[in-house]
Amino acid sequence: MSSAYLQCIEESCGRRQDANEDPHACAFCGGLLDVKYDFDPINPKQLRQTWRQRRLSDDPIDRSGVWRFRELVPFVDPGAKIVTLSEGFTPLVEAPRAGSWAGAVQLTIKHQGANLTGSFKDLGMTACITRALSRGVCWVACASTGNTSSSMAAYATRAGMKALLFVPFNQISAAKLAQALDFGALVVEVGDNFDAAFRLLLQVAPELGLYLVNSINPFRIEGQKTIVVEMLEQRGWLSPDYIVVPGGNLGNSSAIGKGLRELKDLGFIEKIPRLVIVQAAGASPFYETLRTGATDLLAVDAPHTEASAIRIGHPANWKKARRALDWVGGFCESVTDEEIAQAKCVLSQDGIACEPASAATLAGVYKLVQAGKIERNSDVVCVLTGHQLKDTDYIMRHRTAGKEGGQRIHVEAELNSLRRELQRALLEK
Ligand code: F0G
Repeated sequence: MSSAYLQCIEESCGRRQDANEDPHACAFCGGLLDVKYDFDPINPKQLRQTWRQRRLSDDPIDRSGVWRFRELVPFVDPGAKIVTLSEGFTPLVEAPRAGSWAGAVQLTIKHQGANLTGSFKDLGMTACITRALSRGVCWVACASTGNTSSSMAAYATRAGMKALLFVPFNQISAAKLAQALDFGALVVEVGDNFDAAFRLLLQVAPELGLYLVNSINPFRIEGQKTIVVEMLEQRGWLSPDYIVVPGGNLGNSSAIGKGLRELKDLGFIEKIPRLVIVQAAGASPFYETLRTGATDLLAVDAPHTEASAIRIGHPANWKKARRALDWVGGFCESVTDEEIAQAKCVLSQDGIACEPASAATLAGVYKLVQAGKIERNSDVVCVLTGHQLKDTDYIMRHRTAGKEGGQRIHVEAELNSLRRELQRALLEK
């Protein structure tokens, strides 16, 4: 049987950790940890067939887009209970208008908003809540810009655990807050931004015996890496030229980089796609760090962007993300809120919508094609990380501000004035 262990990512350390503990940082140097495996011999051809057959199965484990690929996440003890809500199985959809707008690229969308709680976080949460359950955890906790919290709340209650959330006060979307409350979580609103809430949580978590499920928990990354397995299977195992993701705390890009590397090392793909991370201009510490060639993170103390999901100034996983870009030859871009809003409008013309952070991907592609860093006619997959309804306040704000898109008129409930208004509105549209 394949076996798993935890290892520090720091080159100067690299030490293995006690496999029975679930630390979130190296016990020796405080570095981030990887889950690593001594894989059993893997036959890619056979395994691809097995995974395909599982698509016809009614077993809840096979109905999960994470555990269907369990040979690549073999950290679960035999017989352990898996906590799943049929995550994954998300669509890969062509976006022809958005592709031609971005500069004649062949664009497809991997829409993670189709997960049950409406974001990509469900892939990571099934993995780390399953791990937590096997450790007899009672309370799980995270700091969040909203999506991790709603996903954690769902999986925790499903597993019979209690959920404690730290969210910045008045900084996350009402819809995401409502989801967490709906799932019965205890929500603590603290600090002005994610970074402050996260810092405080890290301080109190050990005192209170809380199990952290932020993306510094390496088991989260394991679940999230399966997005590329599913995506490549949907593409007949042909790699795109680029995979584009928004970057906040940089867990997702780290996960995608790890997934791609493992697929290549294990012989599932020949070519590794390049990974592009897109940050919002007011919250782009990673972009600035890479742009200037700084060796340490150029953290942003007061991050600002309307894309609240990625309003993060001190991304915890920046070293893993930098390593991921090195592995796959990727790069990072930053886009303004105006560019995000425009890209979001363009996507919706293809009948595809998402929350603002997700639209940063298309805005990034547009900018990179203009700059000659992404070639015209490239095969590009944008990962849309969150559902359209995750931030309806944003939509209403932008629409009422009269930008492109839908129109809203209030008409007196009287037939003649209704006819008059309709004639006018239909002509104008
Ligand atoms: N897109 C959405 C919709 C997100 O919610 C997040 C992160 C990201 C992109 C960025 O992913 O952090 O892995 O780089 N949301 C976290 C949260 C921070 O708390 O929900 P990342």
